[in-house]
This record gives sequence, structure tokens and C-alpha cells, in this order.
Amino acid sequence: MRQKIVAGNWKMNLQSEEVDSLVNALNTSNFPSDVEIKIFPSFIYLDRLTKAVKNDIHVGAQNFFYEQKGAFTGEVSYAQLASIGIKDVLIGHSERRSIFHESELLLKEKVDVAISNGLNVIFCCGEPLNIRESNQQEDYVKKQLEESLFHLTAEQLKQVVIAYEPVWAIGTGMTATSDQAEEMHLSIRNWLKDKYNEEVANNVSILYGGSCNASNAKELFACSNVDGGLIGGAALDAASFSSIANSY
Ligand code: PGA
Repeated sequence: MRQKIVAGNWKMNLQSEEVDSLVNALNTSNFPSDVEIKIFPSFIYLDRLTKAVKNDIHVGAQNFFYEQKGAFTGEVSYAQLASIGIKDVLIGHSERRSIFHESELLLKEKVDVAISNGLNVIFCCGEPLNIRESNQQEDYVKKQLEESLFHLTAEQLKQVVIAYEPVWAIGTGMTATSDQAEEMHLSIRNWLKDKYNEEVANNVSILYGGSCNASNAKELFACSNVDGGLIGGAALDAASFSSIANSY
């Protein structure tokens, strides 16, 4: 049985007081016991939230730098994250790729550092609109996975969750249909099968992300290869987020 996961990517949102009220609301929300709940707040709130959230909510980092320490002004290292008890990181989010120019090579380096230091990775992939419109999404996503992820061993892949997030669906309200999501998730699982084996492929959780909300989560999560969601906007509201988590 693959782990079901609902993860909230808070991005660069929420001021300190808003964080407190969201956490209070999350702490009194009911989450299903068979769904792993993760939240990814801004760096400045991580330490406080590892202590403030109820213990069935995992707190992870949206980003990190791949050097352990040193003269890297403005960066936060994987080792610093580990030192405050962070075990989960996002890698390859489309905003990191497009706005911060993170290349496939850099992402591969981050994946390696995270894995060898015991962090769990949610690796994001997904095609932009022009690629979807020219029906090249499968080649595009496969290349993203091949260049930054598929060099891992089967053992290392146990620390990885894949999030398929079509760029055109992120923050736009243009959610992928459940057919579009299932089609890509099935392809990803088939590539995992080809590259590794059936057992590995069946054990990797694949999340959908991109305008997933309380109204469409049920249909998306009903797809046999969708193992949960990476939620942006709808994760900033405890009622929506818990309703998404309860959509199975
Ligand atoms: P969204 O963001 O749910 O606001 O579309 C998802 C994401 O970027 O992870």
C-alpha cells in the first residue's frame, strides 16, 4: 500500500500572526489517520512550527542550499534544517525552476544531497502550457525525471515522493482533469517500472498539484495512481486543507 500524502506548500505567504492562527486551526482539525499531512512554511517559521504543530503534522522546507555551511549569504543549508528537526524538503517546484532558474543539474545535486543526508524529498515536475498544447507533456516530464531523479538507486528512491504539477494549473484555477492527471501519473509509474521494477514503481507515492481544492480533490484522489496532493492556495485555509485531506 502506497502512503497517501496531502502536503501544503505555503509559498511566500502569511505574516507571523496569520501563521499562528492557521496553526491553531490545523491543530484542531481532523485529519484521517492513514493520510500523511505535511506543511511547508517559509524558513523563518520552521523552528517555531516544529514545536507548535500537533505531532501528526510534518513540517518541511520549501527549499535549501546544497552546501553544508559557509560563505553563502542568504542561504539555508540542509544541515541547518536537519539541526532543527526538519525531515522533508521540496525540490524542483516550477517556481524555483522558472523564477530562480534552477536547472536540472542543480536539482540533481539537491536531490543527492538531500537523500544522502536522510531527508525525504517531494520532487516536483510538470509541463508548461505550450508543451501541453503541443501534446509533448509526456516527453517533457520524463526528461525532468530522467535528468534529476532517475539516477537514484531503488533504495534511495524510498525517500522520494513525486509531485506532478502541470505549470498551467498552478495558481490558475485551471485544474487538470482527473483523466489528465491519471494519464500522467500512470506514465510516471510506468517509467519507474521500466527504470527500476514493478515493486519500486508501486511503492512511490505520486501527488497531484495545481489548483487542487476542496471541490475537486475527491475526483482527483479517486484516480488509482493519484496518491494525494501538493496544495498551494487551498492550504492557507485550515478548513479547505483538512477537507482536501478528508477527500479519500
Ligand atoms: P496551487 O499551487 O494549489 O495554488 O495551484 C500548487 C503548488 O504550487 O504546489
